Amino acid sequence: MCGIVGYIGAQQAAPLLLEGLARLEHRGYDSAGVAVLGTGLKTSKRAGRVRDLGEQLPKRFTGRAGIGHTRWATHGPANDVNAHPHTDGKGEVAIVHNGIFDNASALRARLADDGVDLVSDTDSEVLAHLVARSEAPTLEGKVADALSAIEGTYGVAVLHADFPGRIVVARNGSPLIIGVGEKEMHVASDLAALVRYTTTVAHLEDGEMATVTATGFTTFRQDLSTTDRRATTLDIDPAAYEAGVHESFMRKEILEQPDSARAMLRGRLDERFGSAHLGGLNLDARELRAIRRVKILGCGSAYYVGEMGASLIEELARVPADAEPASEFRYRNPIIEPDTLYVAVSQSGETVDTLLAVQEVRRKGGRVVGLVNVVGSAIARECDGGIYLHAGPEVAVASTKALTNMFLGFALVALQLGRVRDLSIADGRRLIGGLERLPAQIGEVLAVEEELREVAHRLAAAESLFFVGRVRGFPVAREGAQKFKEVSYRHAEAYPTSELKHGPLALIEESVPTVAVVPDDELTDRNVAALHEIAARRGPLVVVTHPGVDLGDVAATRIDVPRNERELDPILLTIPLQLLAYHAAEHLGLDIDKPRNLAKSVTVE
Ligand code: G6P
Repeated sequence: MCGIVGYIGAQQAAPLLLEGLARLEHRGYDSAGVAVLGTGLKTSKRAGRVRDLGEQLPKRFTGRAGIGHTRWATHGPANDVNAHPHTDGKGEVAIVHNGIFDNASALRARLADDGVDLVSDTDSEVLAHLVARSEAPTLEGKVADALSAIEGTYGVAVLHADFPGRIVVARNGSPLIIGVGEKEMHVASDLAALVRYTTTVAHLEDGEMATVTATGFTTFRQDLSTTDRRATTLDIDPAAYEAGVHESFMRKEILEQPDSARAMLRGRLDERFGSAHLGGLNLDARELRAIRRVKILGCGSAYYVGEMGASLIEELARVPADAEPASEFRYRNPIIEPDTLYVAVSQSGETVDTLLAVQEVRRKGGRVVGLVNVVGSAIARECDGGIYLHAGPEVAVASTKALTNMFLGFALVALQLGRVRDLSIADGRRLIGGLERLPAQIGEVLAVEEELREVAHRLAAAESLFFVGRVRGFPVAREGAQKFKEVSYRHAEAYPTSELKHGPLALIEESVPTVAVVPDDELTDRNVAALHEIAARRGPLVVVTHPGVDLGDVAATRIDVPRNERELDPILLTIPLQLLAYHAAEHLGLDIDKPRNLAKSVTVE
């Protein structure tokens, strides 16, 4: 979603701002803009790509301080006027804003009554006018004044022609990071925009503001009292944010999975007791034992893997568990039970629907733990405890390696919950053995990429597909369909295999392929019977299964994945579906890392 960048130092700001914005493109956006402060304030913005913005910049778009933005339309359509930066009437103040000002219409009405000419449809524009109209003597005072009138969420950056040599930034609910360089400073809403220049950063807290100059930064609260925020050097490899030799981030991230899965498991398997070490959950054995139910909350792929997690928890710990889209949860006035463990799952830790669901649970006194990838993100901070996913930065919109680690996170939670109940030490050790084998087995699936490529090309030719599976296999089918539609734009619908005959079988014909998840388990025979029904209607079949499973005389393309422990099979069955989606999209020539209409982190409702 919306992205912010800023630069102040000895270099020309515009090229650096454009470069930073390009690195935020994966988050999803529909327009972009930059403002620079040199001799006067100059702004350039437009609907469309960062590349288009770069081409339209005038030659003399100079200035050594600047701010930039990628916008995801919320208030008003994606057009040139609604793009950020927004300015006041005289063009002396430029602002960029992430988040939503909730009282924007009241503020717009008040400004209009005072004769201010509002040119855009956005909530954000009010900030530029409020800063310009403040009578505070300093830029810090003006921005604080303006923000005190505003209700809502924001990450903002402000330039003012009368106060050269500084950018004032503020945060409330939307990330804002300051990057410390050599005699220059950077600002961004996401580390991805900064790491190329510096890994020494300071994350603002909610309610905090900062003045950023070429030589340093100072932080303070909205009442201008100072805070003591220091920069720290992060142990991150800037190369993790580059696609490198890979043609896309999605493919790179798919291939990284054996390594990222190892990172997730490292130090967390307790062989001796057949359990898991998860200190971050902040739950002792007695508290774990008192849990009567588990409710998993996430959106998109995080919700589907949550369904896989719920069945793992039910199977291993025999505790009732289910997953629910976080985006729906809050709106049905949920009953929050003291003996339910709520688990929020999110790659970014920023998805606002998940964040608001966490807040709803906490407001009603419930206990929430997080499975989150981005360290220090809003959801991670809001939870009572949790497990970081250690997947490394995930850039492609479609989640792959983070999703795999979410599954592993659920396996660890299920083990720990199970071992304080009826899961035997022998079964605990059996699962630990399975988890230890998983990274290499993921590698084995990735090794057959070439075969999958050819299958994907055939599937890409279909306008519409089904993905089917049963019980453990159904969330796998749902996630497979989600990936396929996200990146290939083909209509892909997931169904429980058992439900096919209750409706969708009517659609099966030669042009509608079905991808069926058929693990070697107690349901294999029933699954194979359903395959016959599809084949009898000449529906093409791709079957993701285990070696040795007898598909009878069904004509099907078969993809075998290695067997693990049955409870852990879902994640291995998911990996080929990632590659099918990827290669279908690549064959269709689509922008795989940045699918149309989607954003990596959905920070608005
Ligand atoms: C967006 C993305 C999905 C993702 C979901 C949850 O909708 O398009 O691919 O699964 O957000 O993201 P999160 O960061 O919370 O895991």
